[in-house]
Amino acid sequence: MSPSPYPGTDLTSANTLGLPCTAEHFAAPASLAELQAALAEARARDWPLTLLGGGSNLILPERLPGLVIRPAMATWWLEEGENDRVRVHVEAGVVWHELVMALARRGLWGTENLALIPGHCGAAPIQNIGAYGVELCEVLEALQVVDLADGREAWMTPQECAFGYRDSIFKGRLAGRVVITRLVLCLSRTARPRLAYGDLAGRVGKAPTPLAVAEAVCAIRRDKLPDPAVLGNAGSFFKNPVVEAGLAERLLLEHPGMPHFPQLDGRVKLAAGWLIDRCGLKGLREGHFGVHERQALVLVHFGGGSAAELLGFAARVASRVQERFGVTLEREPRLAGER
Ligand code: EPU
Repeated sequence: MSPSPYPGTDLTSANTLGLPCTAEHFAAPASLAELQAALAEARARDWPLTLLGGGSNLILPERLPGLVIRPAMATWWLEEGENDRVRVHVEAGVVWHELVMALARRGLWGTENLALIPGHCGAAPIQNIGAYGVELCEVLEALQVVDLADGREAWMTPQECAFGYRDSIFKGRLAGRVVITRLVLCLSRTARPRLAYGDLAGRVGKAPTPLAVAEAVCAIRRDKLPDPAVLGNAGSFFKNPVVEAGLAERLLLEHPGMPHFPQLDGRVKLAAGWLIDRCGLKGLREGHFGVHERQALVLVHFGGGSAAELLGFAARVASRVQERFGVTLEREPRLAGER
């Protein structure tokens, strides 16, 4: 397609929350050259830039000034390595879940626990997607970025990406400065199932395959998480909070059954969904938004709402948790335009 950005594009169906949004200009470059041309045009016209992937972890305002770019390069290929290792080269516009299922069908281990996470591959490193005991950073070997300021390409190692829990350098120092264009993942033909999380082991047989694990993960997610095609949502709306050991101990005295996960640094990760649930907010609906009835960590959009209303609703949920437990919840999806 032409790199020339076209004006007044409706992005309502391009974000899984289903928030109404119009981009002043929009481009979906299908090659690196088209991406670089779109960036050059934005620079020449002094347009602010917003990058979009699958729109599954993003809160969009009603109007986005300047240029919205959604990378549409979408091929991937395998490279055989040593010791049963297989490298997967994947471009930013590939749909993450489709890649995961294709790799699982080929009998490759590494990404099967990350099945059914919505979004595009290029966005996966930004929040270091994770589920069922596995994070993207464990299989990522390298990634390619293009500098928004000069269109130049560069490769980064996982160390340079500063990955953390739902975090990376792309949410910090490099936010709004680069676009991720390609990932290199390292998978294995040797069985290495990761089944310790929740009831995953109980759902797969004695000799699990990557496909069986991926299908079990899909079944668990479908049980708990709303399908964005049916009910607008951005997955977990808050991060699981990591608190000081003293606070966790005090809360455990009062709530011995509270889920808690000691961290290497001595702090303790709590389950935000459990905290919200215990405030009695599961299933709560206010205006156009609500707390999902099966997973309290997910805020849902019933249609007709706006980003401002969603942020107000989320702030009220967070303040109830703060009042009841003294725990601060941090928003997980990014707000477009926020630096
Ligand atoms: N819980 C409740 N009530 C709720 C929700 C959860 O009591 O309404 C309890 C659960 O029973 C469990 C604990 O809280 O004891 C944790 O719940 P769950 O296993 O559902 O996982 P989570 O911590 O709520 C995280 C990720 C999810 C990921 C799952 C599975 C974050 C912010 N969320 O949720 O990721 O799928 O673990 O690994 O880390 C996402 O990021 O969009 C997402 C869905």
